[in-house]
Amino acid sequence: MEITKDIIFVGVNDHDVDLFEGHYIVPEGMAYNSYLIADDKIAVMDSVDGHFTDEWLGNIKAVLGDKTPDYLIVQHMEPDHSGSIRGFLAEFPEAVVVSSQKAFNMMKNFYEGEDFADRRVIVGEGVVLDLGKHKLNFVAAPMVHWPEVIMTYDSTDKVLFSADGFGKFGAHDVEEPEDWACEARRYYFGIVGKYGMQVQAVLKKAAKLDIQIICPLHGPVLSENLGYYLDLYNTWSSYGVETKGVVISYTSVYGNTKKAVELLAEKLEAKGVPNVVVNDLARSDIAECVEDAFRYDTMVFATTTFNNDIFPFMKEFLHHLTERNFQNKRVAFMENGSWAPVATKTMKGILEGCKNLDYAENGVKIVSALNDDSRAQVEALAEELAAAYK
Ligand code: FEO
Repeated sequence: MEITKDIIFVGVNDHDVDLFEGHYIVPEGMAYNSYLIADDKIAVMDSVDGHFTDEWLGNIKAVLGDKTPDYLIVQHMEPDHSGSIRGFLAEFPEAVVVSSQKAFNMMKNFYEGEDFADRRVIVGEGVVLDLGKHKLNFVAAPMVHWPEVIMTYDSTDKVLFSADGFGKFGAHDVEEPEDWACEARRYYFGIVGKYGMQVQAVLKKAAKLDIQIICPLHGPVLSENLGYYLDLYNTWSSYGVETKGVVISYTSVYGNTKKAVELLAEKLEAKGVPNVVVNDLARSDIAECVEDAFRYDTMVFATTTFNNDIFPFMKEFLHHLTERNFQNKRVAFMENGSWAPVATKTMKGILEGCKNLDYAENGVKIVSALNDDSRAQVEALAEELAAAYK
């Protein structure tokens, strides 16, 4: 597939992966993108997961025929992209690896001491690799999402090779793929979410470039309406509000907390809250719950006291949020406890280090099951939360 006259897609689709990066479900599979730039010198942008080395090398050879590549540019060392470096170098003995010093340090660890000292070019911020017509400008992108990452800007075709940035879950050969934002948001907050500050730094550098096409290492090549994608990345990385609305994330042991959550959701909808999302943490994809928590402006946590602590799924969820710098939200709590309730206090304690959380005045305390008293608390909380949207 041609991206431009000289840039050709040579990546692969993976429908065998059960959990991407060991924890993300990917019902639509995964794409490991790789691109070939055909110029006086021929460069290949990143390799692919090691299970697909032969297919990837076949794609490269199908484009090149008798020619051979000069460079393998390694932007990111995570094995979904670096898994075929050795296969490439064995197949093309004249080629050299172009990457950051940190990436070569990582190669040594991944490849039993091998860091290709005799066939490598070390590059970093501001270095330009001249392929002939195409000039590749390297841009340091540390922690997006590993420390060694470089992105690459081709100033001739105005293409940004963005490493994991702007990537999404899902293979390319899916008939009706999930909408970009849905799976890119889940990918972003799951994988890159902790590093908002570093993404902001890269976006600032990108703003100075004339970018017509973005070529990420996962998901589709983006060539139209780039402002839409850049704006979303700006919102996500600055922990801003993408969509107005309330997310209620809950756990429920016997269904009584669930009934209270459903009552709150009904009341919020009746009072005109623009979006109300309810997630059962024990039965949902946790990465979907995490992306919802960052997407909307208000978060309600509802759980039970459990072993003088909180229910495990809620504990895990809160940990996912705090380690990703959860911030800038309105927050409310609902707790259920039959004899010594500590859930609200415990949840609040876990969120203590988060910046700019605006706690609702009202909360809900359920003692085993809803009664008139706790129903009135649900009504008061719904009233308070809904007032902000009027
Ligand atoms: Fe697609 Fe961070 O690897």
